[in-house]
Amino acid sequence: MCGIVGYVGHRQVLPLLMEGLRRLEYRGYDSAGVAVIQGGRLAVVKKQGKVRELDAALPVAGLSGSVGVAHTRWATHGEPSDANAHPHTDAGDRIGVVHNGIIENAAELRARLVADGVVFRSQTDTEVLAHLIAARPENSLVDAVRAALRQVKGAYGLAVVDAARPEAIVAARNGGPVVIGVGEGEMFVASDAVALLGHAKTVVHLDDGELAEVRADGFSVATLEGAETRKIPQALEGEASGFDRGDFAHFMKKEIAEQPEALRRTLLGRLDHRFSTAHLGGIELAAREMLDIRRVKILGCGSAYYSGVLGAHLIETLARIPAHAEPASEFRYRNPVIEQDTLYVAVSQSGETFDTLAAIQEVKRKGGRVMGVINAVGSTIARECGRGVYLHAGPEVAVVSTKTWTCTATAFALLALQLGRVRDLSAAQGARLLAGLSALPDQIAEIIAREAELAPLAARLAGSQHAYFIGRSAGFAVAMEGALKLKEISYLHAEAYAASELKHGPLALITSQTPVLAVLPDDDLLAKNLSTIAEVRTRQGPVLAITHPGVYAPDVEAAFAVPRSEPELDPILLNIPLQLLAYQVAQGLGREIDQPRNLAKSVTVE
Ligand code: F6R
Repeated sequence: MCGIVGYVGHRQVLPLLMEGLRRLEYRGYDSAGVAVIQGGRLAVVKKQGKVRELDAALPVAGLSGSVGVAHTRWATHGEPSDANAHPHTDAGDRIGVVHNGIIENAAELRARLVADGVVFRSQTDTEVLAHLIAARPENSLVDAVRAALRQVKGAYGLAVVDAARPEAIVAARNGGPVVIGVGEGEMFVASDAVALLGHAKTVVHLDDGELAEVRADGFSVATLEGAETRKIPQALEGEASGFDRGDFAHFMKKEIAEQPEALRRTLLGRLDHRFSTAHLGGIELAAREMLDIRRVKILGCGSAYYSGVLGAHLIETLARIPAHAEPASEFRYRNPVIEQDTLYVAVSQSGETFDTLAAIQEVKRKGGRVMGVINAVGSTIARECGRGVYLHAGPEVAVVSTKTWTCTATAFALLALQLGRVRDLSAAQGARLLAGLSALPDQIAEIIAREAELAPLAARLAGSQHAYFIGRSAGFAVAMEGALKLKEISYLHAEAYAASELKHGPLALITSQTPVLAVLPDDDLLAKNLSTIAEVRTRQGPVLAITHPGVYAPDVEAAFAVPRSEPELDPILLNIPLQLLAYQVAQGLGREIDQPRNLAKSVTVE
């Protein structure tokens, strides 16, 4: 989704802004732009398309100045175009605004401004802000922005520059993330801390309802009402090298390959062999509190939700606590019952997904207790939860989740183990799971090394328009995630179905043109899954399978066998070939793998 970067300091701003925009590309966008204060006026260049097209549109001599803001836009109000790209300016080209989010009363404000004679140059809600700020009589930019924002309803993360007052950038937040990066004699503003890696060592996160005046030599933060707030800079975690594709053709491929290392980091320091349990210190639950949990409710969107489906299965199996996952995007709208003895778990890679944030705010508002399973340290959801589990998977740049799904599923295995061991899970069972968890990274590496064996499955899927992904129980969570990966990057229609449900409807659609990919572990449900496969074959449906070595499945046309883990952990390994399969199909079809159409890395709007 949209990205913001801004700089005020002593260096030439343009290269810094362009570098920041490139870092933000992974979030998905349709246009980009920069505004630099150059010789007392605002120089703006903006372009529909990719950052490289903006680069090509810049004057040969570049833009010279040491204060500026830049943006990648994901169209909401107004089609993707040069005119609708940010920054937006007032009629005098003095105020430059970059904005993430949606101004809900933009139409009303626009009508009022038009009646006052303002001529709009774009269809965006953001342009309203530039005109409102320019019209304010206040002496300082921060006061003018504050006064303008008091007229605005909606969600925003924004940064504003003023060519007449070039000493500061003003940033504000209400629902859209904003971080300030602290440098020496220079300061940064961004919507995502990754834009600041390698430049700022510490960052400050704005909270909703706060404005910051950011100058080269420092910053001050206050609320929209004008009350000063004290902020303590925190260390910025992460390496700029996470944003380098190295020799990989795509970030997705790199991130699939990184899984063994990422998983080792998720496990690091959390396996307690002495007591045969896991130790997740960040959940801040004493044994007695864990015993009091009567139910677990997991909330997330997309892949995060699917990892939660597996998580719920793990918790119910190992800890014998009723557990259920629900899309956060649905939960927040249905006036849910919130229970005191339920543990609510928010799952999010980015920690910025608006639906997930809104869901947990609703839980908290009604007195429920929430913890997070999050990758992005210091993100909005992580801070809103206040406790939980960080994945430490490293930055995930490809739009689709791969390594964070694996690390999240594993974090749930750790949580299930910890909850289980304060209940009825024996030490022997705990030790068995610890051994299984420790073996996962090497087993994943082994699967990745055998990627070429997936070619026959990829060829079969690439030649079809529709496919079913089926699985039972925890295998269904894997099927859902596998189908989503294929849909997202290959644009083929892949539908996940519980294998048990196939005969209750969609069997009618099975023909020789609809391959069925079965998640087929060698578990108690193998015979049931084989019966379903036979029903598919009776209708000429080609069957592919991700299975275990030694499984005899004569009806399966092509299969890939993953190494055996402990039965509860098998789904984590069964999912890895499905990531590679989606990648191979998309690559074969020539798709834009890292930035698929109509998808954003973090969905920060409703
Ligand atoms: C799938 C994918 C999305 C995200 C979803 C939630 O590959 O990337 O479905 O999983 O938008 O994102 P986070 O985890 O950042 O909350």
